[in-house]
Amino acid sequence: MAMTEDTHNLRRRYERIAPLYDLLDLPFEYARYRWIRPLLFRGLSGRILDAGVGTGRNMPSYPPGSEVVGVDLSSAMLKRAERRRPLSPASVQLMEMDVTHLNFPDASFDAAVATFLFCTLPEELQVPALREIGRVVKPNGTIRLLEYTRPHGRIREFITELWKPWISWAYGASFDRRTEQHIPESGLVLTAARFVVDDLIRMIEAKPGV
Ligand SMILES: C[S@@+](CC[C@H](N)C(=O)[O-])C[C@H]1O[C@@H](n2cnc3c(N)ncnc32)[C@H](O)[C@@H]1O
Repeated sequence: MAMTEDTHNLRRRYERIAPLYDLLDLPFEYARYRWIRPLLFRGLSGRILDAGVGTGRNMPSYPPGSEVVGVDLSSAMLKRAERRRPLSPASVQLMEMDVTHLNFPDASFDAAVATFLFCTLPEELQVPALREIGRVVKPNGTIRLLEYTRPHGRIREFITELWKPWISWAYGASFDRRTEQHIPESGLVLTAARFVVDDLIRMIEAKPGV
């Protein structure tokens, strides 16, 4: 797979942090993520792509009877996901793959989801990743993303600034990605967007354009 320097760096980062990832994320998982992950899969069925599957935290929320393909850049993250497979009520296939170069035919998925993937992707990879997801999802299929945004309000803004160096170093992530704004440019149609945790985490829904 041909990779940009950004992609190499991201992969290196996640290879390094994989053994600690679940531990570091545990407070956020229990306080926030476990409540919102099921929202992402509501009404979805058939063949579903989980892009940037990580350690497989979405697995317990997969729709029963569906076939999920989880892809990730990092083999170390995928190894952790492998252990979580028994928690999934759906069949799961895990593959090492870059979301900007998906090795799947056009329109081969009924839906695609990504949780906290786009806040890790640098600005220049946002459109290529959205385009690739749009290419592999069937017309009228559903694309849903959960992503961090920069909160408003002085206290939250201050806390965000304190976290910024750590999340950038550890996860390559940022609160300032413009994922939602990139949707039209990526050939997708925005169908819904709303905050699911205060003004901090947003669920974005789109479909491939015609
Ligand atoms: C912040 S983690 C989120 C993991 C998981 N989705 C979750 O909700 O816990 C981001 C994941 O995206 C993966 N990733 C980053 N860039 C990627 C790319 N270009 N293609 C595929 N996966 C990527 C990382 O390896 C990491 O596992």
